Amino acid sequence: MKAKVTAHARFVISDIDKRLYGSFLEHMGRAVYTGIYEPDHATADESGMRRDVIDLVKELDTPICRYPGGNFVSAYNWEDGIGPKDQRPTRLDLAWRTSESNHVGIHEFADWAEKANTEMMLAVNLGSRGLDEARAFLEYVNHPGGTYWSDLRKQNGQAEPWNVKTWCLGNEMDGPWQVGHKTADQYGHLANEVAKAMRGYQKDLELVVCGSSGPGMSTYPQWESTVLEHTYENVDLISLHMYFENYEKNTAEYLALPEKLDRYIGTISGVIDFIKSKNRAKNNVKISFDEWNVWYHNRIDDMDKLSDWDWPFAPHLLEDVYNFEDVLQVGCILNTFIRRSDVVRVACIAQLVNVIAPIMTAPNGDAWRQTIFYPFQFASAHGRGTALRLDVDCASYKADVADNVSYLDISGVHDADAGFLTFFAINRHGQEALDVDVAIEGFGAVKAVEHTLIKHDDLQATNTQAAPDTVAPKSGEGARLDDGKLTLTLPPYSYSMFRVQ
Ligand code: AHR
Repeated sequence: MKAKVTAHARFVISDIDKRLYGSFLEHMGRAVYTGIYEPDHATADESGMRRDVIDLVKELDTPICRYPGGNFVSAYNWEDGIGPKDQRPTRLDLAWRTSESNHVGIHEFADWAEKANTEMMLAVNLGSRGLDEARAFLEYVNHPGGTYWSDLRKQNGQAEPWNVKTWCLGNEMDGPWQVGHKTADQYGHLANEVAKAMRGYQKDLELVVCGSSGPGMSTYPQWESTVLEHTYENVDLISLHMYFENYEKNTAEYLALPEKLDRYIGTISGVIDFIKSKNRAKNNVKISFDEWNVWYHNRIDDMDKLSDWDWPFAPHLLEDVYNFEDVLQVGCILNTFIRRSDVVRVACIAQLVNVIAPIMTAPNGDAWRQTIFYPFQFASAHGRGTALRLDVDCASYKADVADNVSYLDISGVHDADAGFLTFFAINRHGQEALDVDVAIEGFGAVKAVEHTLIKHDDLQATNTQAAPDTVAPKSGEGARLDDGKLTLTLPPYSYSMFRVQ
């Protein structure tokens, strides 16, 4: 099968906010305890943080990390996580029916974030709590000193404020499962008051209001409309979440789901424009897609298991083992974000370690890269710069979510500073290779191309502790550059990154 692509220097979508490659760490399962934090581990540093995990997080180069939840945040008291560890209370976490020791709190996370080279994106609890706790947390985190909360922070060992810029106003407040779930009107009103109070302290905060937990929610997209009507002028971003599933084991349908993601983003982008006009607002709200990933491998079993377990501490939970098929899916999702980077400014893979994550650890043992580590790593490393509006000519197929799903899913990014043009391409055809001609126009002379390929004959192949490199990138073969024309072959069901200089 043949495909034609044209990339022209003048056809641009947007600059890409590097936070498109953000991540998320929630206090649940083994994300924190035996994930990033394990004081007895052989690689633990003086703060108990696993150095092997920090090294892998640095490989992903994720510029921002959302914390501490997730559903967990909606019944979380941030004050439980400050002060001497042996005096911190153990609490019940209502979201996941587990026990929380609070040995990791804001100080430990901030310390870890600095080591992992990532900025903090903090969420306040608008489920079981409200405005007062949010403003106290903000004062503790961002105020230099001379007040009750800022002096307490100093007393707890942190002299300088952390100056966190980006704050989430709760989590998934549209979800009936959420502790303190609210209607759109109730939440919109509360979020607006909290936003005003937080901005009352610091004008330049970047505030994220909750949108839908997914496009399948019965309140979607009216939720966004109502919530934004309340909050539009006082927030910067609206948060969207979506998880991808393949229970039917139908690869063609599964790989078509990013079309639904694209429509979801387009719809909310329209709602944003509508409310901007309706409210006669001047500011531009954008999207923070702050939870996304494949999540279905263990989901049903996990939900059964936690419904009656006895409040365990750091149990195995949501430890999906990703396969090669998920590499293709994650590649298509990231391509969608790049193509929508004019409106999606922040996106967070959910999550980062052990819980539906690219990085896995064994307690007291190794840390390794799941299959989906690689497409995320490549996009994060080379998907920065300007997103290009590519012209793509390729055959398509009909799926449940769209009539014309192109076999070639591709995005292009121009990094003018480094002088690179990078393409991320997925062949969604299971039997046929794609012979792709890429015309590269208006970028000056292009001399060299490198092609990185991820391909495995078994869509179900996984990386495990015993065999961590079963699915791994290698050099692709046969890419040619002739007079500004790039020619290459994408094997059936494969992920490719090609970089032109
Ligand atoms: O990431 C797992 C959970 O998914 C989060 O806690 C919640 O926000 C979402 O439903």
